[in-house]
Amino acid sequence: MLCLLNNTRPEWVDIAAADIDTLLIDHAHCEKKAAYNALTMIQNYPEHEDIVREMIIILKEEWDHFERVYERIRNKDLKLVKDSGNEYAKQLSKHIRKHEPEKMLDLLLIDGLIEARSCERFSLLAKSESISQDLRDFYQELFASEAGHYRTFTDLARKYFPTETVKQRMHELAMIEAKIMDTLGHQPTMHG
Ligand SMILES: [Fe+2]
Ligand SMILES: [Fe+2]
Repeated sequence: MLCLLNNTRPEWVDIAAADIDTLLIDHAHCEKKAAYNALTMIQNYPEHEDIVREMIIILKEEWDHFERVYERIRNKDLKLVKDSGNEYAKQLSKHIRKHEPEKMLDLLLIDGLIEARSCERFSLLAKSESISQDLRDFYQELFASEAGHYRTFTDLARKYFPTETVKQRMHELAMIEAKIMDTLGHQPTMHG
């Protein structure tokens, strides 16, 4: 799917569906972090008008996703517990280069990869017969929205960097992402 070089371990969707409460709580934190990340991009790159404009849109959409997941959590009488962290994103971020403009390219492409992996996982959840139809419809809707975010991040990368540079770095980062993903797929979390 999209730029991804491997698929999520097939067992993951059943592990996630069997503990949907844990998945929802982790998912809420992912949406919160996606909104925070859009804000951080504006903080880091205020001089790049295209980035600011696109991040305003993404920030609103991710915050809306957070609100809707949080509503589902409350409707199930669950509590939003502390964020237990996201090892996947943490491992990916170790590969962000320290100097500009390489840092900006890596941030845009890693954001794109995380969106792409989220899309793949939403699509698996949307097809799972162990999940209620209402929740499957919600995941299908999020799949489309996160696919749009993937395009935004990769389009921005191409706007500020030469196509060949973007292609080459995306391939390097996608290989790293696939390697990380090979070790995951055992937890009822969005990227676990
Ligand atoms: Fe989202
Ligand atoms: Fe997103």
